[in-house]
Amino acid sequence: MAAFSSMFFLVCLFLEFQGILTLSGTFWHITDQHLDPSYDSAASEPEAVCASSGQRPAVDAGQFGAYVCDSPWRLINSSVYAMKQIMPDPDFILWTGDDTPHVPDQELGVDKVLQIVRNLTDTIKHVFPNTKVYSALGNHDHQPKNQFPAASSYIYHQLAQMWSDWLEPSSQLTFKKGGYYTERLVGRTGYRIMVLNTNLYYDQNKLTRGMEDPADQFHWAEEVLTEAARNKERVYIIGHVPPGFFEKKRGKPWFRPEFNQRYVDMVQRHHAVIQGQFFGHHHTDSFRMFYDSDEHPISTMFLCPGVTPWKTTLPGVIDGANNPGIRSVEYDTQTLLVKDLVTYYLNLTRSNLGQGGWEKEYRLTESFGVADASPASMHRVLGRMAGDNGYLQKYYAFNSVNYDLSVCDAACRVDHVCAARAVDFGGYRDCLDDEERGGAAGVVHGTSVSVLVPMAISVVWWSW
Ligand SMILES: *[C@@H]1O[C@H](CO)[C@@H](O)[C@H](O)[C@H]1NC(C)=O
Ligand SMILES: *[C@@H]1O[C@H](CO)[C@@H](O)[C@H](O)[C@H]1NC(C)=O
Ligand SMILES: *[C@@H]1O[C@H](CO)[C@@H](O)[C@H](O)[C@H]1NC(C)=O
Ligand SMILES: [Zn+2]
Ligand SMILES: [Zn+2]
Repeated sequence: MAAFSSMFFLVCLFLEFQGILTLSGTFWHITDQHLDPSYDSAASEPEAVCASSGQRPAVDAGQFGAYVCDSPWRLINSSVYAMKQIMPDPDFILWTGDDTPHVPDQELGVDKVLQIVRNLTDTIKHVFPNTKVYSALGNHDHQPKNQFPAASSYIYHQLAQMWSDWLEPSSQLTFKKGGYYTERLVGRTGYRIMVLNTNLYYDQNKLTRGMEDPADQFHWAEEVLTEAARNKERVYIIGHVPPGFFEKKRGKPWFRPEFNQRYVDMVQRHHAVIQGQFFGHHHTDSFRMFYDSDEHPISTMFLCPGVTPWKTTLPGVIDGANNPGIRSVEYDTQTLLVKDLVTYYLNLTRSNLGQGGWEKEYRLTESFGVADASPASMHRVLGRMAGDNGYLQKYYAFNSVNYDLSVCDAACRVDHVCAARAVDFGGYRDCLDDEERGGAAGVVHGTSVSVLVPMAISVVWWSW
């Protein structure tokens, strides 16, 4: 073993000098902008600042927004310019949807929804004219909201047209059919992105109820991943509504049960080619672990915080607002290994006072003491969160992008740990049982020698 390790080390050293293993790239992940064109901080009544507050008083309203409101244009503009300033030349941008405000359908309509999506599309294009953008549909990027059809539609066609600069011809075809597509990642052989329309699996979508495979997307995705394995490709998956459970509300999933199971099965079958999953919808900063049947970590889904600070009205969630967040991802361009995440944010209160702008919130490896963001490392992050109160509190503050700095108590700990640990319904229930019974001891789940050995190597590797 020791001989093997030192040989491995020398091989790495050799490749390092050849410049083969160190190629590092970066991209942005942004999500959930939710532009509210009605926002007016100078409104005479706090209830009238924005339509998206639903009459809740916006006592803290300023030029960059208010915690009960969706984003004013200025906030979105400032976030895109902040991206340009922080990292002007990303390899690509992931944009995972939800562009329109949280208002009743009657206040929007199809044209207004398309107009808002176009506004954000043009804004991103204006600031990043030469950057490839991969765009996934959010449940609010439709009218009526959530009701995505499992077949070709006017809205799919309009958006395919609007995004035609970003979509290859083959992508336009599948997008028009079901709002999903796949391409070689920035055109490179051996690398692939798969953009899913998981709104088809959302339990609020009445049009896909009872269907086995809406828009044939699962069948298509399985083929894409099978083909990817055959061609030795590595794949990123992006989408909006994630499988699994909301960490701020116990027992709250988004997918219908049968679709949730099918998604988990797909990842378990094809994890060897999947190097990362990037989703939104929660507006919070979290992650989801996927394990194989031996409890080895095989994949991670990274949930990016939203740009909108909007305090959720979901019953049972108390004070569920967040500061606006954006995220840069560092990855190995040869393997697509996710090396690190750096999240930037705007302290909305402070920026409204004219006292500050976008700043770094945290770097994953620094804050959680891990080597990278591989499934093994993220499993370790989860173990630390579950077993160490200091890490739990840190994670909890990041979860709301430094909005909610209160203590995450025992019940809160279980909600967050189980949501991150188990995406499938049965596993989540088991986790709740385990953690409620005696989890306060903070058992590290599923750790085994075969997980730790590659990690030991990667620690050596990345500490160079
Ligand atoms: C957008 O933000 C940039 C950078 O802060 C600023 O220079 C520009 O004036 C803003 N545009 C609008 C229309 O507010
Ligand atoms: C987007 O809409 C805002 C108003 O809500 C407007 O000020 C801005 O110029 C628009 N930007 C683009 C690129 O259409
Ligand atoms: C955000 O800014 C406000 C006002 O300056 C300050 O009280 C608060 O502590 C800041 N929050 C963080 C996380 O820095
Ligand atoms: Zn959203
Ligand atoms: Zn959403």
